Amino acid sequence: MAVSSSMVDYYEARASQLEAVYDRPERQADLGVLRRWLAREARGLTLFEVACGSGYWTRVAASTAKTILATDCNPSPLALARSKNLGPHVTFARADAFALPTVASQFDGGMAHFWWSHVSLADQQRFLLHFATKLCNRAKLLLIDNNFAAGSTPISRRDALGNTYQRRRLAGGEDYEVMKNFPTGEELRRSLEGQCASVTVLQLEHYWAVSARLR
Ligand SMILES: C[S@@+](CC[C@H](N)C(=O)[O-])C[C@H]1O[C@@H](n2cnc3c(N)ncnc32)[C@H](O)[C@@H]1O
Repeated sequence: MAVSSSMVDYYEARASQLEAVYDRPERQADLGVLRRWLAREARGLTLFEVACGSGYWTRVAASTAKTILATDCNPSPLALARSKNLGPHVTFARADAFALPTVASQFDGGMAHFWWSHVSLADQQRFLLHFATKLCNRAKLLLIDNNFAAGSTPISRRDALGNTYQRRRLAGGEDYEVMKNFPTGEELRRSLEGQCASVTVLQLEHYWAVSARLR
């Protein structure tokens, strides 16, 4: 069967199954830590979220943030996120992470969860520079993503740049090859330190989380 390499198509097709990863029993302890971490970090912020998907983390941040503009390039996950009715302080827009909309005023926080792992090593700085144009000086940057841990989908190949890939099959039987990188804490710091003055990495078994300050 043909294998698609379109990450955008993959997530559009997977929208209704997106949150199944948050039901895995062995991840519950870490997820509890992350929900508390994000609610604390988001408190009082005006947040711009990239790649919000079905809004799992938008909901968590919405409990304490002042406002959130949550964006994703795909209509189906965005519709699920909208249907959560997170309150008048949360708005949604369809947007590509590399071509974000013009905003009336800059945000004092930016977040992107389970997105950084899908950004090619070649595009990381381009993404950060573009995201930073929507954020104030000294804005807070919040990222959560996966560690490679027991139960992770195996890595199927590594490209010349060092990006790693996984083969994933959806419930309908379609096969995709999806780029998924698993940076170490040191690699995260190195990638972020050009744009960020401080980078704090929380390391859990299944996940990492970054709270950083833009310069
Ligand atoms: C792994 S999901 C993460 C969703 C959500 N943040 C979460 O943690 O549950 C990645 C998301 O990135 C979105 N996406 C893929 N390519 C994108 C792009 N170029 N710009 C914006 N969003 C994109 C997908 O539609 C999908 O919702």
